[in-house]
Amino acid sequence: MKKIGILTCGGDAPGLNAAIRGVVKSVKELYNMETVGFYFGFKGLIENDFTMLNNTSGYLTRGGTILKTSREKPFKDPDSRDKLAAILNTYRYHDLDALVILGGNGTLKTAYALQKELGLNVLVLPKTIDNDIYGTDISFGFSSAVDIATEAIDRIHSTATSHQRVMVVEVMGHKAGWISLMAGLASGSDIILLPEIPFSYRRIYDLIDRRVSLRKDSTIICVGEGAISLDESGLSKEELEQSRNHLSIGQRIAGSIDKFTPYDSRLTVLGYVQRGGTPNAFDRNLATILGASAAKLIDSGNFGNLVAYVNNRAIPVPLNSIAGKLKVVGLNNSYLQSARSIGVSFGD
Ligand code: F6P
Repeated sequence: MKKIGILTCGGDAPGLNAAIRGVVKSVKELYNMETVGFYFGFKGLIENDFTMLNNTSGYLTRGGTILKTSREKPFKDPDSRDKLAAILNTYRYHDLDALVILGGNGTLKTAYALQKELGLNVLVLPKTIDNDIYGTDISFGFSSAVDIATEAIDRIHSTATSHQRVMVVEVMGHKAGWISLMAGLASGSDIILLPEIPFSYRRIYDLIDRRVSLRKDSTIICVGEGAISLDESGLSKEELEQSRNHLSIGQRIAGSIDKFTPYDSRLTVLGYVQRGGTPNAFDRNLATILGASAAKLIDSGNFGNLVAYVNNRAIPVPLNSIAGKLKVVGLNNSYLQSARSIGVSFGD
């Protein structure tokens, strides 16, 4: 009887339980394999904190992760040798044939190192609401986060027009602006600010002035949490935090509008709402497709891969070709170009 392990790492996202279900049901149905679930990401592997996963009823629609998660990075700590030895012990204790790891960029690097340093058979399923994993068109959790953010900004529109205000909505995505681009465009935001395009405050003020002169009722600014202004673009992470005095970019923008323009602004930070609750239909099906594909890769002994989703198909992409890389919004991205075509400003 073959046996695999599964664990969830990093920030949670809608679709994690659907992906667990996809893997557990596929390996059982197709190859009669058992699945061991490890709690709290790599921490559960280190401590052999596990449960047998047999019945996945209710997993498809359930938010969060039933296996809990952590940002444990076993290769980062000074006592990493002991942690790695413990991981190897756990892998051998359960006589595992493979390890399926659900995670984002940080997880990818650790998974690749486990394969390379310890010779474990690993597969990674791309999970993050940020959608910044290189090598896959999309990660599960992203589509649900865009839906959540879009619906929230739709609601912001009605209160903005009632009060004739400038509404700043800060969405997640600390290194790449995928959520701000896709939710900003879908919600009809007037200004979309991405980490990839440093913005000018002066440009934002001029755009608001122009909308007021056109008798527009409000201005909606959708800003990714990682966005930076032109004068911040040369700063290091520490200098940036210092210059912002620990204010988020949304707080900075709303505050500057109040200070330097005659307009009334309000800030809404969507935060963890974007990671909560049930996955949308797309993410449920994406998680199932990736889980089923992982089962087939396990059976064929094809390890050391990200189970990527490319051109509407699940395909294996070698971890050594993507570990450490980031997928950011390109300036020629078709959604970005289309947004500019209809007059959306990116603050540049
Ligand atoms: O990586 C996903 C993400 O939600 C980012 O968008 C966000 O900046 C980060 O995780 C928050 O991390 P934590 O959950 O540790 O606060």
